Amino acid sequence: MRRPILTANWKMNMNSAELTAFTGRFIPLVANADEVDIVIASPFTLLDRLAQQIAGTTIQSAGQNVNPEESGAFTGEIAPGMLADMGCAYAIVGHSERRTLYGETDEWVARKAAALLDHRIRPIVCVGETLEQRDAGRALEIIETQIRESLARIPRDQAEQIVIAYEPVWAIGTGRTATPEIAQQAHEQIRKRLSAQFGEAGNRIRIQYGGSVKPETVYDLMSQPDIDGALVGGASLDPEAFARIVHFQSQRTQ
Ligand code: PGA
Repeated sequence: MRRPILTANWKMNMNSAELTAFTGRFIPLVANADEVDIVIASPFTLLDRLAQQIAGTTIQSAGQNVNPEESGAFTGEIAPGMLADMGCAYAIVGHSERRTLYGETDEWVARKAAALLDHRIRPIVCVGETLEQRDAGRALEIIETQIRESLARIPRDQAEQIVIAYEPVWAIGTGRTATPEIAQQAHEQIRKRLSAQFGEAGNRIRIQYGGSVKPETVYDLMSQPDIDGALVGGASLDPEAFARIVHFQSQRTQ
């Protein structure tokens, strides 16, 4: 059984007062959610404060990005060891916003993922096709290439540490969630690819779905056999909505 993982991706949102208001509301709402992993990827500026506020809970923190170098003259960048120093258990790499807005390649994502593992931080590696690629019938091929190349530096014995996030670009922030069937088809393809690359461990790697996940859609997505979690942007900024997503089992509508 793969343990469900629900990750908040706050992107470039929230300040310290908003963080405190969020955790004050969210922590009691998820106090009994002990069968899932709950992760919050805050901006770097809030990681220290977030760590203090979630201390003593099961919630874990994550970076939203990282630089693969150890240290040095890389103005404005954050090294894996710095995330470890902030207590991060996870870090997102290869989010489509970084791939499209900042030109990140699979090779660059692969370096980041490997560098994180060296610091015992679990990479959440994002993949997903654009609308044009889907309309051209290339979605599965694109995802497969991204998986193969973004994970090229992951040693087999550490494969279980990684988390994959499948986020179709056309579903991010658009209110247009992939249907559970479309998402499952992509997840199944990813699972096959992971098994080809990592053998039996491929079955134990968790694959999150991301793209306009809401409390109303999370149950049906999570009911699919290869969907093991959600990476949530917009809805994760609202403590009530994200808590309902964490309690996805109780969101069944019919
Ligand atoms: P969204 O973002 O839930 O706002 O679509 C998801 C993401 O980009 O991780």
